[in-house]
Amino acid sequence: MRTVRWMVLGVSLAVAGAGCGKSDDGPPAYEHDRQASVRSAELEDGKASYEMYCAGCHGVSGDGRGEAAAFMTPTPRNFQLANFKFSSTRSGLLPTDADLKRSIRKGLKGSAMPPWELLPDRTVDALIVYIKTFSPKWEERSVSAAIPFVTDPYASKKDKSRAIARGEVVYHGFATCWTCHPSYVSEDKINEHLVAMENPTRDVFRPGLSESEGKPNSEGEMVFPPDFLRDYVRAGASIEDIYRAIGAGITGTAMPTWIDSMEFPAADGKPLVQQADIWALAYYIEDLIRRRPKLLQADKLVLRKRTEGIYLTSERPVYTEDAAAGDTEEFEDDEDAEEFIED
Ligand code: HEC
Ligand code: HEC
Repeated sequence: MRTVRWMVLGVSLAVAGAGCGKSDDGPPAYEHDRQASVRSAELEDGKASYEMYCAGCHGVSGDGRGEAAAFMTPTPRNFQLANFKFSSTRSGLLPTDADLKRSIRKGLKGSAMPPWELLPDRTVDALIVYIKTFSPKWEERSVSAAIPFVTDPYASKKDKSRAIARGEVVYHGFATCWTCHPSYVSEDKINEHLVAMENPTRDVFRPGLSESEGKPNSEGEMVFPPDFLRDYVRAGASIEDIYRAIGAGITGTAMPTWIDSMEFPAADGKPLVQQADIWALAYYIEDLIRRRPKLLQADKLVLRKRTEGIYLTSERPVYTEDAAAGDTEEFEDDEDAEEFIED
């Protein structure tokens, strides 16, 4: 018995040696075989789960054109192009498995992508293996590194008002996020923040400054940067989630990677902005999200109005505090917004 087993082993080692030219390199062939069969079982599991849960939107061939996708804004991700938006990696790079897992588990709020909380871990892993088969990018490129999460200087402070105030200055005066997202202060105040950040002031601002400006994405669809007082952020509203989105940027869209543009000295040689200011931006945005009114007028719901070009008219929707007045409607599942912010 024993000899037979050793003989089989000897043969497969010899085959492995012949195959790769060097017999002392990598795991022996039987190990390759075992891994290959584990992988193909995982792929099969991934394919079956994909076709059951995902293909209706993302398409059987992964092209983002499933039967249900026709009227979706934004459209389901096209896995063949593999422009994954929400990652801890810099804009243009592939996401990590942890990023994909986060999007699948938590879903993308404000889009049709649901959270898949109940699928076993094994299934989510298999789905990730399977959706990678749709694009050769996964074979061609090496795994990308996540951006650094620098120390949060405000983490231990209970009162975040300094972080929020600093975020407002950096948002309007340094990063000029309002060239795409709305401005949340007056033109005079923007100029004050520009001066604080040692930038020249402006006489003329873009029309519709308190609205976001539509920007086409890499697939030619119009994308509207969120107005944080009104729209959901998709990839999570925790401070870490917002830091990640700002620091890493959003692949395939106009949203830039900020982590590499945040080290600037002031005229006196002291730091003007630092990477840690991304935390200040994150606290500022989280504060705007918290202030988002719970009730929006039904006829002003952004997602519905977007296609009708509301942004192009620069007509800013008006919020009503009074729920009972006129035809107002609860902004879908906004009831859990508080809970969402906390997680
Ligand atoms: C009801 C439609 C729908 C279903 C079902 C669905 N998705 Fe999505 N998915 C979307 C939409 C829409 C987006 C794009 C959201 C956006 O661009 O913000 C998306 C985006 C994604 C992304 C991209 C995240 C990124 O960083 O770009 C991944 C990954 C994903 N879905 C995986 C899955 C998997 C896996 C399943 C099945 C378990 C699934 N989806 C089922 C609609 C759906
Ligand atoms: C050149 C245009 C542009 C600039 C400048 C810009 N953004 Fe964005 N941003 C976008 C677009 C477009 C999106 C939406 C991408 C999507 O959902 O498809 C976005 C999305 C976001 C999101 C949402 C992430 C999510 O999970 O949905 C955050 C947060 C954000 N931006 C913060 C900022 C901050 C802070 C700044 C300034 C430091 C900034 N952006 C500057 C275009 C821009």
